[in-house]
Amino acid sequence: MTGDIAVTDDGAVRIIRMNRPEKKNALTLAMYTDMTRALQEADQSEAIRCVVIAGAPGAFCAGNDIADFLKAAGGGLDPRGHEFLHALARRQKPLVAAVNGVAIGIGTTMLFHCDHVVAGATSTLSTPFLKLGLIPEAASTLLAPMRMGYARAFSMLVMGRPLTAEEAKEAGIVNTVADAAEVEDLALKAAREIAALPPRSVAVTRGLMRSPLDDVIKHINTESAHFKELLQSDEARAAFTAFLARRK
Ligand code: COA
Repeated sequence: MTGDIAVTDDGAVRIIRMNRPEKKNALTLAMYTDMTRALQEADQSEAIRCVVIAGAPGAFCAGNDIADFLKAAGGGLDPRGHEFLHALARRQKPLVAAVNGVAIGIGTTMLFHCDHVVAGATSTLSTPFLKLGLIPEAASTLLAPMRMGYARAFSMLVMGRPLTAEEAKEAGIVNTVADAAEVEDLALKAAREIAALPPRSVAVTRGLMRSPLDDVIKHINTESAHFKELLQSDEARAAFTAFLARRK
């Protein structure tokens, strides 16, 4: 583990915490590796029946590390982010998210793969991929219109308009909006409730309820191919450079 991802098991619940608060939990390649491993291990463990993903105070996740995007624009995209998306989509165990503070880019699109989401009242969700010259990932181009309807998905995914926690609840992405101080307790409570159910029944029902995995994987792969190409674009490089230089 890198230190930026902390994994703890609390009975039948595994908690994966993104813990890089000084960078608002922007995800590095090492963090993707650790999260992928933590999800895959949870699937292989009979003892773990539910997983919670949580952030640090003020930041659930500010998206992919933009310095890594700039490196990828020059040298090719490292597969570790893509591998994390596959692990997320292929995961067997239910996933609960405890969202406090900002959820940006993959911080929001990973929520489409969660089974239950608790968000702090002041949290915001946004997907500014197009403003960075990129396209949305994590099969969000499939899952967002299905979940929110095309109009709301276009506004969020294409126009980059953020959602408040309440708007995300209305849109069907968030289950519960709570005071920031209560978010993790409520997420853990939900995870324990799920973990107490007969696991085989949970697995079968969840499998039947979710979009066909082949469609999700196909979307992840197609988005990824476009994403890789667009990372090399002048617009993307200029946007990454502008973000990283904005205070200099
Ligand atoms: N990649 C790399 N570094 C990031 C980052 C990201 N995605 N998001 C935040 N950071 C870094 C900032 O550069 C800053 O680092 P520094 O202290 O060394 O300068 C630190 O995290 C704190 O961020 P800051 O912008 O000072 O905090 P803020 O509260 O004013 O704003 C955000 C927080 C998350 C709203 C803002 O940082 C932001 O918009 N980040 C980019 C989000 C994004 O576009 N992600 C990609 C989605 S595809």
